[in-house]
Amino acid sequence: MKIFVGMVNGMTRTTLAIETAGLSRSFGARQAVQDITLTIPQGAVFGLLGPNGAGKTTMIRILLGLIRPTSGSGRILGHDIVQERAAILPHIGAIVESPAFYPYLSGRDNLLVLMHTSGSKDTHRVAEVLKLVDLTQRADDKVKTYSLGMKQRLALAAALLHRPHVIFLDEPTNGLDPAGTVEIRELIRRLGQAGHTIFLSSHLLHEVEQVCSDVAIINQGQMVTQGRVADLTGNGAGVLIEAEPLAILQAVAERMDAPLKVIGPRTGSLHLAPELAPRLVAALVHAGAEVHQVTPQRSSLEQRFLELTRMDKR
Ligand SMILES: Nc1ncnc2c1ncn2[C@@H]1O[C@H](COP(=O)(O)OP(=O)(O)OP(=O)(O)O)[C@@H](O)[C@H]1O
Ligand SMILES: [Mg+2]
Repeated sequence: MKIFVGMVNGMTRTTLAIETAGLSRSFGARQAVQDITLTIPQGAVFGLLGPNGAGKTTMIRILLGLIRPTSGSGRILGHDIVQERAAILPHIGAIVESPAFYPYLSGRDNLLVLMHTSGSKDTHRVAEVLKLVDLTQRADDKVKTYSLGMKQRLALAAALLHRPHVIFLDEPTNGLDPAGTVEIRELIRRLGQAGHTIFLSSHLLHEVEQVCSDVAIINQGQMVTQGRVADLTGNGAGVLIEAEPLAILQAVAERMDAPLKVIGPRTGSLHLAPELAPRLVAALVHAGAEVHQVTPQRSSLEQRFLELTRMDKR
């Protein structure tokens, strides 16, 4: 018997996890999502970043088939989101808005109820997902005694029950305290490392930078920028420095392995993490240079996001 590595149910690894073409949705006169074209490869941890009202939840609801696009199209694992929803459902899991659990049942019993209503008898899977989200210890306590963070992890456990390949999470850390936030982010990273494709929405730039491999920024329903997080954050991040003499500036920059791009008679820019700026200044002063000004330069991702969030506040 021949085994085709990388091929599951006729789906090859090269099939995109998610792709959309000109996806739009309006509610009356309001354009909530406008002409969004995305390609998300399998195994990506994708962040849809945008301020309140940008269209993130609408975008996720369209992809999940909960609402129809007004125009444009989308595919998940090669299947059309409108025409072939039945083929998609077994492969996707999602948390959109706070899911409802029976408060007087335990976390474990809630998952068992979900399992049975879906027609599955794989009760072993319930213990497995509880362990995955680190809820084994509290699995037999009533859900009404759970913290918000625990409820969120239970929701994730529920979404993982049927072993979905693609997981949608709408603002998964919203309302959580710092510890709860860290737990969820670690969990998302682990799921990504295990090969799942994750589509999460967030209004927090640093969250997306921390957990995502790919990102798209949307604002007022429209695409602002998209790409690999590493490309967008590496690009432009550095330090703008004004010091003299230029020769010392050049020598110190070289020693710090951050070649200098000379801009003026005593000004240059360095490709150096802004948090290393104090070390750069100390080295320059030690070498006998006079430092006039040091300005951290933001990555293009941060720049774009700041621009549009500032614009919104006006
Ligand atoms: N069912 C609906 N009926 C009318 N307008 C809607 C509906 N759903 C969303 N909208 C509008 O579409 C726009 C995008 O909303 P959406 O909830 O997708 O934004 P979001 O990015 O998820 O925001 P948030 O960060 O606040 O969750 C908003 O202007 C919203 O008022
Ligand atoms: Mg939302």
